[in-house]
Amino acid sequence: MILVTGGAGFIGSNFILDWFKLGDEAIINLDALTYAGNMENLSALTDCDRHIFIHGNICDAYLLSALFKSHRPRAIIHFAAESHVDRSIFGPAEFLHTNVQGTFKLLEAARAFYNTLDGNERAAFRFLHISTDEVYGTLAPGDAPFSEKTPYAPNSPYSASKAASDHFVRAYYHTYGLPTITTNCSNNYGPYQFPEKLIPLMILNALEGKPLPIYGDGKQVRDWLYVSDHCSGIRRVLEAGQPGETYNIGGLNEKMNIDIVKAVCALLDELRPSADGPYARLMTFVEDRPGHDSRYAINPSKIMNELGWKPQETFESGIRKTVHWYLNNSDWIKSVMSGEYKGWLQKNYMQRGRQEQ
Ligand code: NAD
Ligand code: DAU
Repeated sequence: MILVTGGAGFIGSNFILDWFKLGDEAIINLDALTYAGNMENLSALTDCDRHIFIHGNICDAYLLSALFKSHRPRAIIHFAAESHVDRSIFGPAEFLHTNVQGTFKLLEAARAFYNTLDGNERAAFRFLHISTDEVYGTLAPGDAPFSEKTPYAPNSPYSASKAASDHFVRAYYHTYGLPTITTNCSNNYGPYQFPEKLIPLMILNALEGKPLPIYGDGKQVRDWLYVSDHCSGIRRVLEAGQPGETYNIGGLNEKMNIDIVKAVCALLDELRPSADGPYARLMTFVEDRPGHDSRYAINPSKIMNELGWKPQETFESGIRKTVHWYLNNSDWIKSVMSGEYKGWLQKNYMQRGRQEQ
């Protein structure tokens, strides 16, 4: 079996759902169920005895040690993290705690377990760490996309905490020989993404007739990857990636934020037209994110050439699937609209002044 951390979040739950569509190797899913974790994401697995959910924290060394001893996973896929840049600006401490301390605790538990293995079990063991392209900092318009050789230059508390965790993962390979692999991925989108993130936020606000808050001038660029393509990349790295290596995973879809919002509005105009007119009328420029990185772009040639992975979705096909999914899953949307989330919206958007462009 494999151990997945953060499997009730956006990417982790997509990874687990896809995993069981393709095979039946068991998964232990360790998740603390923070505001971002939601068991509704995994409701399709309620009767699946191959999915073992453990409600617990990656910072709990005692629990980790017990899980390794009793379940003896052949690999770890480490998704659990605080993942939202804006939240890291309001409250960086939790990011340091979960992303750095939590990863350290997991590495320590994995190292202790790895040292008990021998033969084939030892040779096959992998610790796969899921990281982000944000650790590379920001690009100017003509710069080459991030490669695995781009130096780290994180700019937000979130990306600094992910960079720190990546360095620990690297150090555990070099110092202790733990067979770690890190993947650095660009912006994901698709089903089950918590609506604090750009694409689901825009879909849900538009449907409620609320302003669509675009930070700054909306010309920042992100490189969008449909979540199931990210999950297939992770599976490929688990199968064939080399210990000690890092792999960039990206969708070859650089787009300006404003064009993403326009694309969402156009799809909603087609699929769920509003009596009040085109959804683009709700686009509102607001005060920028402090330290906002202006451009991310991934060069995925290493994973494409060495491991034969490539994304299946174009941005047009992926965004259509995504908008359809949110239109067809109103119960899921209700389940994530907690008091905590309403409080977050108040905190992040109420003090952000509007800006004329
Ligand atoms: P998410 O915020 O949707 O989910 C995070 C999950 O981790 C939640 O289920 C949460 O309950 C769990 N969690 C948080 N703290 C925990 C703790 N201390 N112990 C156990 N579980 C805990 O995040 P996501 O968007 O699914 O991202 C998953 C991973 O992928 C993260 O490591 C993130 O940095 C990375 N990543 C995300 C993106 C993206 O676009 N979303 C892109 C690149 C990399
Ligand atoms: O690049 C990978 C990263 O992508 C992951 O590591 C992070 O976990 C993930 O959250 C994401 O980070 P971003 O900050 O790029 O994602 P977010 O959806 O928050 O914002 C995308 C862009 O849209 C960014 O330039 C900020 C902008 N934005 C975001 C929100 C929430 C807005 O203009 N308005 C908004 O209301």
